[in-house]
Amino acid sequence: MSQTTGAAGPTVRAAEDLRGRTVVLIGGGSGIGLRVAHRVVEAGARVVLGGRTAARLEAAAAELGGAAVTWRTVDTGDTASLAAFFGDIERVDHLFTSAASYQVGPMRELSDEEAASPFDSKFWGQYHAVRLAAPKLARDGSVVLMSGAASARPAGPAPAYVACNAAIEGLGRGLAVELAPVRVNTVAPGTVDGNLWSNRPAAAREAAFAHYRREALLARPATEDEIAQAVVFLFTNGFTTGSTLYTDGGYTLR
Ligand SMILES: NC(=O)c1ccc[n+]([C@@H]2O[C@H](COP(=O)([O-])OP(=O)(O)OC[C@H]3O[C@@H](n4cnc5c(N)ncnc54)[C@H](OP(=O)(O)O)[C@@H]3O)[C@@H](O)[C@H]2O)c1
Repeated sequence: MSQTTGAAGPTVRAAEDLRGRTVVLIGGGSGIGLRVAHRVVEAGARVVLGGRTAARLEAAAAELGGAAVTWRTVDTGDTASLAAFFGDIERVDHLFTSAASYQVGPMRELSDEEAASPFDSKFWGQYHAVRLAAPKLARDGSVVLMSGAASARPAGPAPAYVACNAAIEGLGRGLAVELAPVRVNTVAPGTVDGNLWSNRPAAAREAAFAHYRREALLARPATEDEIAQAVVFLFTNGFTTGSTLYTDGGYTLR
């Protein structure tokens, strides 16, 4: 809750009210981030989209429509780029960084560089995004980190990727302690039928979805919007911090 003082005296603003809030979505040009953008714009927030490709961001902003949406290119692998990105933003009420690009596979098949890529991009990318956003974060705002349910139940041999997601969940707890009263939470999706998998080879996608239909309690992959709904919940629940929300259809229970 935040206190604001108007002519009628102090009023209390609920965390769930996104009207006029600035929500920064790095990776918001596609996939889950873009679905979050739709939800928060509908709730009255201003959105700043970030990503590496101007054309993708421009198209996403056009899809969202209206003056509440702006975009800037940024690469989470480059701290100077992140500093310039946040330097242009006056205030950050909520931050979600679904931006990442990495390779996944068995220890015995990946080069060390490939194995490090989830940490380099997904872990350190989010760490640096939060560090550079921190001076702009509203005291009653929040950060949602992106991990993945592989942290708790690996779908196949990909130990560095599994460890990276577990590390991000630990990072969320650590940042919740350091940044309080800013809330910091983590969303851990299972397999999502969306943009990321649509850009992977069809055979791999079909195998992953079939595995999920067999193994998840809810017998299907998620939609991007189901994950976006969880992210918005974490933005707007004023008493949740340091938590990891497994939006995985019960995959980790079997
Ligand atoms: N989809 C799933 O099944 C699933 C499941 C669990 C976890 N996740 C996690 O969700 C995240 C991916 O989100 P998504 O599913 O919505 O996929 P997506 O549509 O591929 O979104 C990723 C977005 O991030 C941007 N991006 C990538 N690298 C970037 C960088 N270095 N700097 C700035 N922007 C960057 C991409 O745009 P540009 O390429 O134009 O920069 C893209 O718009 C990953 O962290 C992934 O591990 C996904």
